[in-house]
Order: sequence, then structure tokens, then C-alpha cells
Amino acid sequence: MQLPSFSRRRFLEKAVYASGALATHSFSQAVHAAPVPSSIGAEAAAHGILAGCAVNEQGLASDADFRRLVAAQAAIVVPENAMKWRSLRPSPTTFDYSAADRLVDFAEENQLRIRGHNLCWNQALPDWLEGTVNASNAQHLLTDHIRHVVGRYAGRIQSWDVVNEAVNVHDGRPDGLGNSIWLTVLGPGYLDIAFRAARTADPHALLVYNDFGVELDNAEQAAKRDAVFKLVTSLKRNGTPIDAVGIQSHLSATSTDSFGSGLRQFIAGLRRAGFKVLITELDVDDSHVAGDDAMRDRAVAEIYHSYLNLVLDAGVRTILTWGITDRYSWLTEHFPRADKDEARGLPFDEHLRPVDAYWRMVESFGRVRG
Ligand code: XIL
Repeated sequence: MQLPSFSRRRFLEKAVYASGALATHSFSQAVHAAPVPSSIGAEAAAHGILAGCAVNEQGLASDADFRRLVAAQAAIVVPENAMKWRSLRPSPTTFDYSAADRLVDFAEENQLRIRGHNLCWNQALPDWLEGTVNASNAQHLLTDHIRHVVGRYAGRIQSWDVVNEAVNVHDGRPDGLGNSIWLTVLGPGYLDIAFRAARTADPHALLVYNDFGVELDNAEQAAKRDAVFKLVTSLKRNGTPIDAVGIQSHLSATSTDSFGSGLRQFIAGLRRAGFKVLITELDVDDSHVAGDDAMRDRAVAEIYHSYLNLVLDAGVRTILTWGITDRYSWLTEHFPRADKDEARGLPFDEHLRPVDAYWRMVESFGRVRG
């Protein structure tokens, strides 16, 4: 949907001036000088796309420039860690909503939509869980968690990653499920249990199965695509309330394999089977890119551009990056560079200046008829 040009311009101006980062840095510093500075959320919205980012809790709590940047740039946000079990569950009987509430309040104050991440995963679990959960209490523990958390934010969260990363083709099971504490205590039915609990707690939220490693044209990722496709279609066929598939999209600027027909077919197949498809965690690891910042930025931006062109052409209309600025990016810690420099895998650098990836994203959105 194309917004009328006057209100669109006002939206862009609001976005730019609300952003301390953009207001204090002249656009001549950007690699591509832009005639009209804008925002990711606004540029995407002008073409019928919902775009935003994950929000780092530390940045949200302590960095006003970061808050302004997110408010100006995102139309939808997702907490990077605040809604994971480890953050929410200090003990088997208590909930700590402080960081999650801060994110939800921030989003609502700034009229941003919200995704929830996540309700059932084999990581970011509290230390007490392993010693507490067993076959007889597991179903209650999982459904009770989902009932509380989804119920607390019912009507305010647009989509939930209900189950994260359940598939691992290397674990050798015919159903493709990966080893997980939930699989051990509940068996393969744990996914159905989680989705049903989420639907009951918020009948209007879009319920998502979210996974990584399905983007590239290589044998391993092709096998994972098959396994994910079989999993979600068989769940749906058997009545599990699952609406969408999230493709995380943690990409690399130096991967020897590319994305292409495999991903295109995967998205097309999912959409034909009635699923919405979202890009939920896009970023580009540049830990092995040699050269100066400008060369790294170009390599990263090239991936953003070709990847977004592919998924947008395939009909995806929701795009979230995993962070917005290199100031808060999991890549720096999880994919460290030999030279110890920070990662440059997001649309804004650590000084909150837009880099090539930003402009290439905007270019990709611009190709879509709204
Ligand atoms: C990451 C966070 O960004 C880090 O801060 C944390 O240390 C580990 O988790 N896939 C996911 C996300 O689904 O939850 C992960 O987030 C990144 C990979």
C-alpha cells in the first residue's frame, strides 16, 4: 500500500528528526548520499512491508540515542533476550517481567508492533530447569509458562516464536527433531503442546515456528529445509495451530555457498501450504571479510541486497534484523574477528550512522510494488 505522498513525507521527517543519530550526523558521511533521509520502517511501509529489529535490553535500559534510533527506524521490534526462559524465570514458581515489560512499554509508547521470542527452545533456559523438569511435570511446566507469558501480553504481541530451532538433521531421527530437553521429557508431542497453549492464551497472535540454517543452497541446508517443511506441514495437517514459519537469516559475507533456488522453493512451498513466512533475525557475519571498513560494509550490504531481493520477490512481507546498530550486535561476541574489531553486520554502525547495508535495504524495499 502506497501512503499518500504528503503523509508519507511527514512520517519520514518525523522518523528522521526523532532520531538523534540521523539528526546529528550529516548524510554526506553516508556512503551513498541520499536525497531524502528516511527510515527502514517507513521505507518498507511505503511498499507494503513490515520491517524492524531485535532490541538489546542493555541498550534499551541505558542508551537514549539507541532508543531514539530504534523508535525512528523500526515499525516492529522483538526483544533480543528479555522473553527467553532464562530472563523470565528466576525460579520454578516465579516470573520476572521487568526487562520484557520495558520492551513492551517502549514499543507501545512509540507505536511499534511487537514480536515475542520465544516460548520453547533448548537454549537460554534457567539453570534450575534441568534439575526440576521430568516426564510427569513437564507438560504443566511448559503450558503454565506459556499461559502466563502469552496471557500477560495478549492482544499486544502480533506474533510469537512459539518453538525455536527444534530441527537438527544431524541428530539422526527420522522426524528430523533435534535433541532437546523438551523432546526428552515430552517426546515429539512437545511442539503441539506449545502451539496449543499459545493459541489458547492469545487467539489473535500469529504463531510461528522459527529456525536457522535453511537459507543456503547446499546439501546440509537442503536437508534441513526438507525436515522443517515436513515438520510444519505435518503439524498443521494434524491440527496444531501453527500459522507461520520464521527464517532467522543469520547470513555470512564470506560463505562459499549462496542462497538461491532452494530458499525460493522453500518459501513458495510454505506459502502454498498456507504458511506465512517471516524473516526474523537477519544480519550478516563479516568476521572473515578482509580489508578496511568500507570494503567490509560493501560486502555486507551486497548480501543484504541480494537476500532481500530474493525473499521479497518470493512474497515475504515481514523483515526483522537482529539488532539495528553494531553497538549492540551478538555477532561481535559470537563470531569474533581475529583482529578483535567489532562486527559490522547491521544497517547502522557503532556510532549509529547508516552504512551501505541501510541504503541497500531501502533499495530492495523500493523494488516492491506496495
Ligand atoms: C542470541 C542473542 O542475540 C545473544 O545476546 C545471546 O547471547 C544468545 O542468543 N538465534 C536465536 C536468537 O533465535 O535467540 C539468538 O539470540 C541468536 C540465534
